[in-house]
Amino acid sequence: MIIKNGKTIHLQGKNISYVIFENDEGDLLHFHFGKKLADRDYSLMTSEWAEEWGFATNEVPLDVYAQEYPSYGHSDLRNPSYQIINKYGNAVSQMKVTEYKIHHGTTADVCGMPCLFKGSQSADTLEVILYDSAVDFEVHLYYTVFDEYDIIARNALLVNKSDTPIEIMSAYSASLDLPIGDYDMIHFAGAWGREREMIRTPLQLGVKVEAENARGGSGHQMNPFAMICSRDADETHGEVYGLSLIYSGNHSTAAKIDQFGGLRVLQGINPFCFKWDLKQNKSFYTPQSVICYSGEGFGKMSREYHDVYRNNLMRSEFTKKPRPILINNWEGTYFDFTEEKLLSMAKRAKEAGIELFVLDDGWFGKRNNDRSSLGDWTVNTEKLPSGIDGLAKKINDIGLKFGLWFEPEMISPDSELYRKHPNWAVKVNERNPVEIRHQLILDLSRDEVCDYVINAVSNILKTANIEYVKWDMNRQMTDMMRGGYNHEYTLGYYKVMSAITEAFPNVLFEGCSAGGGRFDSGVLAYMPQIWTSDNSDAVSRLKIQYSTSMCYPVYSISSHVTASPNHQVGRITALKARGDVAYMGTFGYELDITKASNTEFEEIKQQIEFEKQIRPLMCDGDLYRLQNLYEGNYCSWEIISKDKKQVFVFASRVLAVAQSKNPRLKLQGLDYGKQYRDTQTGEIYGGDFLMHRGIKINYKTEDFATEVRLLEMC
Ligand code: DGJ
Repeated sequence: MIIKNGKTIHLQGKNISYVIFENDEGDLLHFHFGKKLADRDYSLMTSEWAEEWGFATNEVPLDVYAQEYPSYGHSDLRNPSYQIINKYGNAVSQMKVTEYKIHHGTTADVCGMPCLFKGSQSADTLEVILYDSAVDFEVHLYYTVFDEYDIIARNALLVNKSDTPIEIMSAYSASLDLPIGDYDMIHFAGAWGREREMIRTPLQLGVKVEAENARGGSGHQMNPFAMICSRDADETHGEVYGLSLIYSGNHSTAAKIDQFGGLRVLQGINPFCFKWDLKQNKSFYTPQSVICYSGEGFGKMSREYHDVYRNNLMRSEFTKKPRPILINNWEGTYFDFTEEKLLSMAKRAKEAGIELFVLDDGWFGKRNNDRSSLGDWTVNTEKLPSGIDGLAKKINDIGLKFGLWFEPEMISPDSELYRKHPNWAVKVNERNPVEIRHQLILDLSRDEVCDYVINAVSNILKTANIEYVKWDMNRQMTDMMRGGYNHEYTLGYYKVMSAITEAFPNVLFEGCSAGGGRFDSGVLAYMPQIWTSDNSDAVSRLKIQYSTSMCYPVYSISSHVTASPNHQVGRITALKARGDVAYMGTFGYELDITKASNTEFEEIKQQIEFEKQIRPLMCDGDLYRLQNLYEGNYCSWEIISKDKKQVFVFASRVLAVAQSKNPRLKLQGLDYGKQYRDTQTGEIYGGDFLMHRGIKINYKTEDFATEVRLLEMC
């Protein structure tokens, strides 16, 4: 709901208020983002509010105020939300409010980029128009608020009203000025195989902390999601502000405490290496940033993001449906497979209860290793004599669905496509482009290249019964030909994704980028699940999945049982541990199942039966993280259905401890007065007992011990 009261505009969500107002000079100021306030004209409190913010009369006028979309150089000298080189060639800017508009619903227009849609929720959008008359520059700020959630979705539109071209040097999507306090910032950094490590940094006076990535996609190295929280915040307590950018290119979330102790947080496209020429009367849209407030710790914030993204971002019809249990041949065969081998794996998979067979890399061109053929999307008939359609039919005859891997954004220098179109690769004229994994990137800033990709993938999808696609992207972006190129590419990527996912709504798409190098909400808008990491070791996955779930819904986390010793870290773990960890997310196998011993095969069958029981919970259940491996030896989580009738519990102790007494595991979010039956043991417990006394987990005396439970209300 949006309420305009005098010069105050009050956006109210389920439990939150976001309050802004205009001062007498026409500046757009920020008043409050946090727990819900009553409806008042808060602009009347300007002086009291200014004191709180450390108002000092001898300062640069706006330097002390909390603002909504601050500029630099005239009246505020902190880090700005945007910077332009105006028609006079300088960067000084200052905008005043000219108009407010309140729209029912969501804005939806972010120039081809994904954004929240209204769905069956009630949403309103505030548009504030700001204008810098000295340089003829206009900004429209959009704020969408939903009655059902505690989030505000923000983006900006920058318009050049002047008679000459201008340059945009930076344009953040959201700027949040928070009052004096002790804050920590939590960001999610890493590398290939150890994506999204959760890192907490106390914010200190004067030091800018920037969680940014300039490597092309959203990145293994830094996720476009961050949290600002009170120093005492944890899973269940404290104030938390989440910032999640719906964007798959270079991004930045920057926080800095100013001289008076106020905090400014900015999130948007990374200004580093960014420049956008804006011609007369042309406009530039920023991606959308979804900011969330929780007064009850990280857990509540996560559940909020999960609901919003499942209901109002993810377009796939599979989003809230049980997903097929898959087997992927990659770690089982890598490039070394024949049709016969694949069919033998598929037959055994079917006997185990698996539902979908996925053929990974190596099925096209002359690709027997990673040195060639990307771009040549024609089947390698030496390996697959029946073609993709023939193979799909044979897999279907076995009783499995068929899925296929692509890496459509890429081009191998050793490919027919490159020989025909060498200028379709991203490169600068004066030097040879850097090959990473022996491949280059197709220039998706060009329509003809996007059309090629759309047609190449569509042609294969039309000719065979392909019900799942794994969309991979295995390199970082170098040799960009101009500032802002990464954004042009990202727009092209979204254009391709929209065209293909709209044309094939019945295909289940899974995103991937050398593991979890592009795990972001932009990708989720098109593909409801993402390969979380190439590191499939159960112990490494505890932290990776734990921190990925901070923002992203459980069922978007693709998680496979692989062989032991693990191929990435060499660790030996029990099949039970590998299965138990993989239940969090879209569950599957990625190993040569024909090599499983009889005992292992029986265990796999049981795992699959259990997965079939719990997967409805993954579709839209509520996640509670119960024990945090970042703080000790235990890691556990719980997923409970919205009606609280079914509860899945996962518990793990990483290293065995002699004579250890394991802490009881206190569940959360259950119905206090109801009884719950443990479906394995038949024991019955009260919801009160499970939450306030907890269940006992009897770990085996071994490293990497895990347990799972399914409880049902009775
Ligand atoms: C990287 C992916 O993350 C893997 O799962 C696999 O698909 C390979 N690419 C194939 O090249």
